[in-house]
Amino acid sequence: MAIEIQLCTKEQRKKKLADSELVFGKKFTDHMFLMKYKNNEWGTPRIVPYQSFQLDPACAVLHYSQEIFEGMKAFPHPDGSVNLFRPFENAARFNLSAERMCMPQVNEDLFVKAIVELIRVDKDWVPHSSQTALYIRPTMIATEKFLGLRASSEFYFYVILSPVGPFFKEGFKPTKAYVASQNVRATPDGTGEAKTGGNYAATLHETCIAKNKGYPQVIWLDAIHRKFVEEASGMNIMFIIEDEIYTPPLEGTILKGITRKSVLELAQELGYTVHEEKIEINEIVDQIDKGQCTEAFFVGTAASITPIGQILYNDREYIINNLNVGKITQNLYDKLVGIQTGKIDDKFNWTYRVD
Ligand code: COI
Repeated sequence: MAIEIQLCTKEQRKKKLADSELVFGKKFTDHMFLMKYKNNEWGTPRIVPYQSFQLDPACAVLHYSQEIFEGMKAFPHPDGSVNLFRPFENAARFNLSAERMCMPQVNEDLFVKAIVELIRVDKDWVPHSSQTALYIRPTMIATEKFLGLRASSEFYFYVILSPVGPFFKEGFKPTKAYVASQNVRATPDGTGEAKTGGNYAATLHETCIAKNKGYPQVIWLDAIHRKFVEEASGMNIMFIIEDEIYTPPLEGTILKGITRKSVLELAQELGYTVHEEKIEINEIVDQIDKGQCTEAFFVGTAASITPIGQILYNDREYIINNLNVGKITQNLYDKLVGIQTGKIDDKFNWTYRVD
């Protein structure tokens, strides 16, 4: 399907920031992609100047949170091209989320084409410095106006772009994580693995508690036993125990992270042993005490690979690797980012050239 393109005028173009001024998700490019769903079908796919929506105050997304989104990144390569990272994985996951949230499917080729065309239009916005990228946020919201509790019949699918710096403002440095003590993020057979706003809203209360204690990120435990590690609020988690990689399995309550999947594939290729299995938080802190859990890190699109240097659990602080970046974390980070930025040969065929 052809995408209509309406470019913004010279006057509408926004001022860009220098790469050194970029933070995560505060600046947006000149254009966006927009496609509307009504009467059981998608309308014309369009690229239009970045703009606000006029939404009726009764529309479904504002009341019952019927919405889904994705997070992706595009990176400049040394040959001048711009490349996405595994975009069809995001397209497929978007449709899984759509299914769970009773929303219409989006053609996966169109999903990727929309992003490719939008980036071509706003290519000048792609930052070039280390630890920066063009972040992509495909989103679907329920726009029908009514207050009855049922699935909407009208939706907007849109994509916005944001030149970003690191998600954690310190960048690739060990961060601090607080193990949730009051709330849970997801329950079995709930919406945990869907990328829907409600899962993220559920993290905010405990995140405030964590932040008040000086911890920027929360590690969530399972809802039934309150002992198995699940993930962080917006990213998956991995631990290195005796030089082997451990991460919680995908059993419906945690996000099927594409960075998670890539890091596991990359780690196996590099010869590391990986375990996708249930891990008790008590076991982790025990292993840290014994000096056997020597590294821990978050994995996610926004977070990339972010080392964890400190964990607060039951009012006790556990320091990992003397607050230094571990050698396996560093190796995986170098290889992953190397592939994403075209500095290392992509033998997995993960990068997808935009132009
Ligand atoms: C991403 O990593 O892309 C996400 O969507 C997580 C969000 C908290 C920034």
